[in-house]
Amino acid sequence: MSKENIILIGFMGSGKSTIGKKLARALEYRFLDTDELIEERAGKTITQIFAEDGEAAFRRTETELLEELIQNETHCIIATGGGMPLRPENAACLKKLGMVVLLNATPETILERLKEDTQRPLLQGDNKAEKVNALYNERFPKYTAAADYVVNTDDKTFYSIINEIETLYKEEGKRREK
Ligand code: S3P
Repeated sequence: MSKENIILIGFMGSGKSTIGKKLARALEYRFLDTDELIEERAGKTITQIFAEDGEAAFRRTETELLEELIQNETHCIIATGGGMPLRPENAACLKKLGMVVLLNATPETILERLKEDTQRPLLQGDNKAEKVNALYNERFPKYTAAADYVVNTDDKTFYSIINEIETLYKEEGKRREK
């Protein structure tokens, strides 16, 4: 049975950290962000990790962190990096860790949110729109396969998104008690 955490997955710019913090406040849960934890432990930014150690090393660290969270954490809202659900072993770990919610936004919304961004190594350089579209199409089936629930965020207020997730979580809780 999965643990009592809510894990937010989704594309870069889908609002995982922003919504995660607000949701944590509403539920009085602790907020964790896997990118932040990895940066703190490495003592460098994700951009530096990609540049100095490579993406494969970053992905290994993500998997190790997930395994550790399963052992240690409960009653947390956990925002994950956009690539977290892609490794098959991670997708299985996410389900063990708790209720997995995909925050979905269209590529157009994502592009609008990330147009000034310089922090995501995978979207640097020219043709951001092409990169977002290609990655989104490649990843979407993996995201939905890893998720217990999909919450669309386009044109919704934070308040209604949080309410939606809280309702899903309460329903899960009732099922868990049966
Ligand atoms: C990544 C998303 C980033 C970060 C890294 C790789 C991805 O996190 O983990 O740059 O592969 O989509 P956010 O989704 O928080 O931007």
